[in-house]
Amino acid sequence: MAQNFLADQAEKVIGHSAQDRAAHTDISNPARAGGKYADPSGEKMKALVWMGKNDVRVVETSKPRIINDHDAIVKVTGSTVCGSDVHILHGQIVQTEKGDILGHEFCGIVESVGPAVKNVKPGERVVNSFCISCGECEFCKKKLPTACEKTNASTLQRILYGGQLSGIFGYSHFVGGYAGGQAEYVRVPLADNNLLKIPDSVPDEKGLYLSDVLPTSYHAVTHTGVKEGDTVAVWGLGPIGFMSCFWAFHKGAKRVIGIDNNWRTEYAKSKIRGLETINYKALKNNETVPSKVHELVPGGVDVSIDATGGEYGKGWTHSLELAVGAEQDTSEMINEAIYATRKFGRVGLIGDYVGFTNHFNVGAVMELGITLVGCGQAPVQRYWEELRQKIEKGEVDPTIMVTHRFKIDDIDKVYYMQEKRQDGLVKCFVETRFSAPRAEGTPELTAL
Ligand SMILES: NC(=O)c1ccc[n+]([C@@H]2O[C@H](COP(=O)([O-])OP(=O)(O)OC[C@H]3O[C@@H](n4cnc5c(N)ncnc54)[C@H](O)[C@@H]3O)[C@@H](O)[C@H]2O)c1
Ligand SMILES: [Zn+2]
Ligand SMILES: [Zn+2]
Repeated sequence: MAQNFLADQAEKVIGHSAQDRAAHTDISNPARAGGKYADPSGEKMKALVWMGKNDVRVVETSKPRIINDHDAIVKVTGSTVCGSDVHILHGQIVQTEKGDILGHEFCGIVESVGPAVKNVKPGERVVNSFCISCGECEFCKKKLPTACEKTNASTLQRILYGGQLSGIFGYSHFVGGYAGGQAEYVRVPLADNNLLKIPDSVPDEKGLYLSDVLPTSYHAVTHTGVKEGDTVAVWGLGPIGFMSCFWAFHKGAKRVIGIDNNWRTEYAKSKIRGLETINYKALKNNETVPSKVHELVPGGVDVSIDATGGEYGKGWTHSLELAVGAEQDTSEMINEAIYATRKFGRVGLIGDYVGFTNHFNVGAVMELGITLVGCGQAPVQRYWEELRQKIEKGEVDPTIMVTHRFKIDDIDKVYYMQEKRQDGLVKCFVETRFSAPRAEGTPELTAL
């Protein structure tokens, strides 16, 4: 929290960037600014808001309205909770403000559009991209929308990273301060670039995951160059790691090893044929994750992918350093990945890291000729048409990771379940009063 306070103070002193007017940033709840951004009908909606560290709540707030000619208003029919949302819950993401509506994955029906919107029409079913692309800057043109230069006004980010990321729905003012989609309605800025149509043959329970998990996991294996015949190890078997294992096989990997510390190893093995797993909680005293990987693949794997997250300290040294703010991220999983990789192999980071780390073995990277690949926030628009086609053709069924269905009224409780990785929850589908009846073969509603 101290981190958050300092960040807010810095932003006030340095000033907010003014280059982002096209998307209208920092409207993280339509009820802000005396309801200036609320629908004039006065209609209310349910939404999940951040109220402070470890405190999220479902509240009633105003329905959003169109602010810019390029906006669309989407009536949400499906939403979910991401592993990234747990970082926000924990207060790890700076510049989150009380009352911000969260959620960066949603699908729904276009309710209305501004006069400049061309690609989507009211009544159409759509899914969002978690990142907000302007469609015009150098990076958006190169299909690297998460590097967009125009949709995020946080000056602090430029100072911390030397450059800024795109805006992201429902993920703090560090990435634009946009209201998120864990709500019944959401305003989508620059709708032509940030919504994709869902075909009739694809139910929401599959289409929803084009907003994040599918492109993110696909990007993880593509960007680290997984190819035919490779051996691959993946740290973390949450939705991102789980689907990265799936895509690694899809790209032709001959062996894939998934690593975690709980029941998720068994779950992943039951869903992905040929997957080998390591549950490091079950290792013997003289064994480590890298030694186990070397035992399975002598010499190490060609590619390692870290799909965990820098806040998850493992040993006491890092846990202590994280707790007292002596580092922002642990280097334990990255070091393990380096040791488990063959000489001149590749290590990709798709799990979220936010700042500085201690005890990182830079020597091993250099001496072993490891290519360390920062995957960035996944450039959704680069892949989502290709992936929509793969869903239509049945080459991927995203429901293999979907274990639960909940109501939006209960989504606050889902955050705590997701945090504890409880009750067999891998990925959920969250319905609203606008959702279609449950698609066949997908999980029944669980009331919490
Ligand atoms: N780069 C992107 O575009 C992008 C997009 C979405 C999510 N993410 C990030 O990816 C990460 C994974 O997301 P998720 O939704 O799958 O989250 P998740 O929290 O459900 O999964 C993380 C998994 O890592 C496991 N884990 C923790 N410490 C570990 C360790 N030392 N070794 C092995 N496994 C360990 C946990 O038990 C858990 O199962 C998160 O950090 C999330 O913020 C990044
Ligand atoms: Zn996410
Ligand atoms: Zn752009």
